[in-house]
Amino acid sequence: MQSDAKSIRPLKGFREFLPEPLPNSDVWSMAARNYVFSKWRKTAIQYGFAEFDAPPVEPLDLYRLKSGDEIVEQLYHFETKGEKGSAVALRPEMTPSLARMISDYERGYSKPIKWFSIPQLFRYERQQKGRKREHFQLNVDLFGESGAGADSEVIALLIDTLKSLGLGSDDFVIRLSSRQAWEQFFSSKNPQATSADQYSFFQIIDKLERTDPTESNNKLQAFQLTLDEVQSFIDAANPTEELEEILAQLKARGLSDFVKIDYRIIRGLAYYTGVVFEAFDRKGNHRAIAGGGRYDELVSLISGGKVKIAGLGFGMGDVVLCDLLRERGLMPDFQSESRLDVFALIEDAGLRNETLKLVQSFRNQGLRVEFCLSDLKPQKQFKKALESRANWTTRLEKTETGLDLIWKRMEDRFETRQSLDESVEWNIAFPPVQSQTDL
Ligand code: HAM
Repeated sequence: MQSDAKSIRPLKGFREFLPEPLPNSDVWSMAARNYVFSKWRKTAIQYGFAEFDAPPVEPLDLYRLKSGDEIVEQLYHFETKGEKGSAVALRPEMTPSLARMISDYERGYSKPIKWFSIPQLFRYERQQKGRKREHFQLNVDLFGESGAGADSEVIALLIDTLKSLGLGSDDFVIRLSSRQAWEQFFSSKNPQATSADQYSFFQIIDKLERTDPTESNNKLQAFQLTLDEVQSFIDAANPTEELEEILAQLKARGLSDFVKIDYRIIRGLAYYTGVVFEAFDRKGNHRAIAGGGRYDELVSLISGGKVKIAGLGFGMGDVVLCDLLRERGLMPDFQSESRLDVFALIEDAGLRNETLKLVQSFRNQGLRVEFCLSDLKPQKQFKKALESRANWTTRLEKTETGLDLIWKRMEDRFETRQSLDESVEWNIAFPPVQSQTDL
């Protein structure tokens, strides 16, 4: 059967990551993705977090009830094959898998447990700026500490991660809030309310910024509240004792400029129990860069009450972050970065095997080396060396007494020559000269 590969396009909302140089500015760069991941890893490791991973496909039940309606509606889910087919889903977030792993293995780890991961996540979401149907997320989570010290550490890590990418306090802010503060506000008006009522109320607050005020006001009436009352509570921005402590600890680190109390943040996910926060760009051009908070009941919920351990953390997505870095001119120019240490030219085809010996000895030293796999004219080979952004070219040349190795530094075309002894194993120093001053 013939298929027209051209008509089979990637699914909407799924990205392809291409090597540099990119064919156009609309495609995603693999070098940029690796750059962001390396900064994510580096900061998490600096703070003493250890990397973990989990299965990308999980039982559907892991997400039902635990995550909240919005994310469950967005699941990619299906039945597995065979008679005993079961309902499974591609992971839309990492937190439920992590909570299960913690409930299974926490006894083997000293507390606090500090773990991070960079999963790819899948959500069947309406496509819009900053939202795809797959994305990568840095997840940083900490278990076994219920005091504000843990919250301030995790928030400081979030700030330092963004700082390591060149973003400053003029670029982003962490909007800090508290589910407990909202719980108190809600239950003072609704003393008999169930937790389902409370969650419905949280959903109204979560969508406040995106919903028509009249509609929000109508929905709030079901809970004996008006939009004005809610707005006054938000405007007062009275920090709870816990938030005050977190702010004081962030101040001690010199990070006050990066945070503000903002009760408009409540977070859509069902499992949060305490402090919640989201990072936004200051200009307000983008969706949230990151979001997280405390979820002290989730491990207990997932383990059926067997394991009780406090948890908190955040997720930072790559889509909004990369948009922001590009907008601010903070994405490095990967095209101009050197890709190779040495390009070996083979101008005398009779020296191909000797050149292979040379290439192998360079690679054994850990150098990045390429050469042309079939015979090409010298100019074409040199063009390839330029395209591959090699720092040096080398080529072998026969002499009356043996073999010479001729080096060319691509930056300034400086050349140097050395004789090789064919009877011994080659262990050639690289670079052949250290700098201009060595000449
Ligand atoms: P979340 O707010 O759903 O939280 O996602 C965190 C971040 O991931 C968002 O701020 C956004 O940058 C990015 N993100 C989410 N959905 C998409 C999407 N469809 N396309 C592109 N980027 C997206 C969580 O997932 C929590 N599990 C985070 C967490 C970890 N809380 C505690 N620990």
